[in-house]
Amino acid sequence: MAYDNIIVEIEEHICTVRLNRPDALNALNLELLRELGKALGEAQKNDKVRCIIIAGSEKAFAAGADIKMMSEKSFTDVFLGDLFTPEEAAVMRIRKPIIAAVSGYALGGGCELAMMCDFIIASDTAKFGQPEVNLGVMAGMGGTQRLTRLVGRAKSMDMNLTGRFMDAEEAERAGLVSRVVPCKELMKEATGAAKKIAEKSMISVMAIKEAVHRADQMPLTEAVLFERRLFHSMFATEDQKEGMAAFVEKREPQFRDK
Ligand code: CAA
Repeated sequence: MAYDNIIVEIEEHICTVRLNRPDALNALNLELLRELGKALGEAQKNDKVRCIIIAGSEKAFAAGADIKMMSEKSFTDVFLGDLFTPEEAAVMRIRKPIIAAVSGYALGGGCELAMMCDFIIASDTAKFGQPEVNLGVMAGMGGTQRLTRLVGRAKSMDMNLTGRFMDAEEAERAGLVSRVVPCKELMKEATGAAKKIAEKSMISVMAIKEAVHRADQMPLTEAVLFERRLFHSMFATEDQKEGMAAFVEKREPQFRDK
């Protein structure tokens, strides 16, 4: 399918979605977000796809929600139109793993989109921030919530209240990103991680994603029980038999998602 604001490539079980509005540093307008939601939905349905990467350009993952699109909107427009709620839901509905490969600016909605992904691999040029306060507004796609859960209240308050940017090294120290690599290596690293995931049983992969997301949504006892029951349920799969037999027989497992 052809898109105007993103480029989608599927290769070796990996669907890579590149945000592609270079003249606006990949600012997220509704057309882009809707195309992204559609592409992710297609990737979810496509049995060939086992992992998804969302990337931007070298200069910008995304410099935020599109300020020009929002500048003339009224309270009535955004409240009654429920600005960004369906677009965010479209990303959060995806059950396959999503890696954000972030180079350059990931600001406002860009940082928030990266945080909606399951983990972030950053280039050493990455800059994260929630600078909405400079525009007389505040974060509106999870920047006060997901960021706080990921990096803690002190850094989240600092970033949201001052609008300062966090570089890749600080972001890794703070737990916002899982790895930092030289800019030129970013896509190789992200694809390598995606390929590793693609080799596993999709049953484990999708259950792990569901369980980890419960970590910040449920009380610990309930979340651990949720994990335990999922773990128990895997003993009904062929992939559990295969994975454990392969270990015992000292060979590589051949998972069949069964
Ligand atoms: N929306 C719309 N256009 C944007 C944009 C955005 N968020 N960010 C950059 N652009 C556009 C610029 O307007 C410019 O276009 P023109 O040449 O047509 O004027 C082009 O991208 C290049 O940008 P700059 O010339 O500003 O590039 P720079 O290298 O000097 O600065 C930057 C880069 C620091 C990222 C700067 O562009 C910037 O501060 N951008 C805005 C960041 C921001 O405030 N993001 C939050 C948006 S609100 C939000 O996201 C709400 C939410 O939570 C949902």
